[in-house]
Amino acid sequence: MDGSAAAAMNNSVVVYGITGGIAAYKAPLVVRGLRALGIDVTVVMTESARQFVTPYTIQTISGNQVYTEMFSTVAASGFEIDHIALADRADCFLIAPATANFIAKLAHGIADDLLTTTALATRAPLLVCPSMNVNMLTNQATQDNLQTLQSRGIRILEPEAGELACGWEGQGRLPEPERIVAEVQHILSKKDFSGKNILITCGPTCEDIDPVRYITNRSTGKMGAALVEAACLRDARVTVISGPVHLKYAPWAEVIEVRSAREMLNQVNEHLVEADVLIMAAAVADFVPAQISERKIKKSGTGISSLDLAPSPDILSTLIPRKNAKIFIGFAAETESLLDNARQKMESKGLDMIVANQVGRKDTGFASDTNSGVILSPSGIMERFELIEKTDLAHKILDHVKDRL
Ligand SMILES: Cc1cc2nc3c(=O)[nH]c(=O)nc-3n(C[C@H](O)[C@H](O)[C@H](O)COP(=O)(O)O)c2cc1C
Repeated sequence: MDGSAAAAMNNSVVVYGITGGIAAYKAPLVVRGLRALGIDVTVVMTESARQFVTPYTIQTISGNQVYTEMFSTVAASGFEIDHIALADRADCFLIAPATANFIAKLAHGIADDLLTTTALATRAPLLVCPSMNVNMLTNQATQDNLQTLQSRGIRILEPEAGELACGWEGQGRLPEPERIVAEVQHILSKKDFSGKNILITCGPTCEDIDPVRYITNRSTGKMGAALVEAACLRDARVTVISGPVHLKYAPWAEVIEVRSAREMLNQVNEHLVEADVLIMAAAVADFVPAQISERKIKKSGTGISSLDLAPSPDILSTLIPRKNAKIFIGFAAETESLLDNARQKMESKGLDMIVANQVGRKDTGFASDTNSGVILSPSGIMERFELIEKTDLAHKILDHVKDRL
C-alpha cells in the first residue's frame, strides 16, 4: 500500500513487544510490514525473546534503538524513564508472539521487566497475539487470563491451528506477519464508518454453458477487494458478494461466494435489507447462455455451431424499488465515451454515484493495481483520477460516500 492509505499511517507509533516464544522468528517480518506502512516501530524485547532473535536484527530492520533493560543508564537523547516514555509514545501497543507467561503477568498486573511495566503504563490500545503449545493454550489458567484481558478491552488475535514447532498439532500458531500487520492497521485507522453496513459485490460472474465450459469476463475483483479493505479499516460492517476470484478479502469482512449473475442477484436481494450502502463493483455478465446443458456438449456429433444468449438479470434495476434512503454506487467499465456511457448508466439505474473507469489499457481497469477515470454524481463530476492505486481510489470513493451518509 502507498499513497493516501499509507499516508494515513504516517507519524503513527507502534511500540512492539516481543516475548520468548519460538514464533519470535516471525517478528522481523512484522517489523518490516509495519514500516512499509510508514509506521514508526520501537521494539521492546524480553530476556527470553533474545534467545530466539537478536536485538541487532530488530534494530537494523526497525531503524530504531531496541529496548531490553528496565534499569538502563544509556539514554539515546537526554534522560527519559524508558517505560513511561515508551508507554506514552505508543498509538498502538503490539505484543507478538505473546507467551503464556507474558499473558499471565499482564492479566495480573505484574510489572517485573521493561515490557510488562510498559504494557501496564500505556493507555494505547493493546493487541496481544498469543502463540504457544496447544496444551499451554488450552490450560485453564491461560484461558482465564485471556478472558480477563479480553474483558478489559484488550484485543486478542486468535492463534491459528496447525502443526506446531514443538511437534504437537493443534491451535497455537502465531498468525502470519501480514495478518498481524493488518490488525495493527485496523486499530490505527480512522473509524468514520462505525455502525454502518456496506454491501459490496466483487469479481466476475461465470455463466455456465455445460458442466465444463462457461462465459466470464476479465474482472479479477481487485477494485472490489480494495473497497472491502478500506471499508473494513474504517470500521464499517462489510458483507461481500463475490464471484469466483483468486484473491483474499480483508479478514474482517463476511464473504459470500457466488458463481452466476442469478446467484449474485439472490444474495444481494437477501442482504440488502441491512445495508446502508450498496457498492456494485462486480462485473456482472450482460448476457448468459439461454440454456445450460446438463451434459458436456461433445465435439463430435452435433456439437455447437452457435451459442444462444439471453440478457442476464439486471441486479440494480431489480433492487431500485427497495432503495429508500440507501446509497447506491455503481461502476462503469468502458473503452470509449467514458463519461457519456457512465452518465447514462447512472441515470437509467437511479444511482447516487458512479465510478467510471477506463478499461482496455494495461495499466488501468481489469487486473491492474491502478485505475483511471471519473467519479460522477447526478449533479456532475465529483473527481477525476489518473493512474492511482486502487487502494487509494477505494478511500476516495468512501470519502464521497461519507459526505452523503
Ligand atoms: C525452545 C523454546 C520454545 C518456547 N516457545 C514458547 C512459546 O511458543 N510460547 C510460550 O508461551 N512459551 C514458550 N517457551 C517458554 C518461554 O520461553 C518461557 O515461559 C519464558 O519464561 C517466557 O518469558 P517471557 O514471557 O518473559 O518472554 C519456550 C521455551 C523454549 C525453551
